[in-house]
Amino acid sequence: MIAEVNQGLLPELRLASEHPHHPVTVHSVSAPWQLVGAGNYAAVVEHPEYSGLVVKVYAPGRPGIEAEAEVYRRLGKHPAYSECCYSRVKSGFLILRKLHGTTLYDCLRQGIPVPQKVMQDIDEALAYARRLGLTPHDVHGKNVMMREGRGIVVDVSDFMNPEPCTMWSDLKRAYKLLYPPWLRRIPVPDLLLDVIRRGYRLLKRR
Ligand SMILES: Nc1ncnc2c1ncn2[C@@H]1O[C@H](COP(=O)(O)OP(=O)(O)O)[C@@H](O)[C@H]1O
Ligand SMILES: [Mg+2]
Repeated sequence: MIAEVNQGLLPELRLASEHPHHPVTVHSVSAPWQLVGAGNYAAVVEHPEYSGLVVKVYAPGRPGIEAEAEVYRRLGKHPAYSECCYSRVKSGFLILRKLHGTTLYDCLRQGIPVPQKVMQDIDEALAYARRLGLTPHDVHGKNVMMREGRGIVVDVSDFMNPEPCTMWSDLKRAYKLLYPPWLRRIPVPDLLLDVIRRGYRLLKRR
């Protein structure tokens, strides 16, 4: 798989991080590789012959790959986290165990109700990380997932960042205040989600 990444994926992959606070743009992914998702730092892709694994490729110039590999080393095995099977910092990629699920952001977009248990699981997973001396950071709707009613944390890349981060507690507050059960099956339009995301950033002046 590593050879496939080096020879098939990386030479053709065009990634650009136009702004550190907005998702990277993925210009091309060569078949049979497929895009799984994109964050503010990296694109995540998979190959049909290596099911169960994904490759997280950092956009040129985006830092943090060593820290992410280290966080996974510390987390070890835990049901709410992925694992890092291989890292090559110089080439800018990690091979991670694939997590199956829907990000909470996509749950909102699709009107998939998120039960309280999912929030509890994520809370417990973050407490586990804190007990290991990590500092969960940047835990927002695109970095957490739901699978079969359980919560999963997808993105741990900022867990060594010691600056305080209120994203998860804000998300929990919004869940309690703005997410009554009768509203949960109503899909939220992308445009509204983007307005909320930008409004939140302005409010926090990040
Ligand atoms: N291990 C994984 N399994 C499945 N999908 C993943 C995995 N890691 C990331 N993703 C998907 O890729 C997206 C971007 O990955 P993420 O780790 O959040 O990147 P970034 O550090 O750039 O924010 C996530 O929102 C998620 O949809
Ligand atoms: Mg992310």
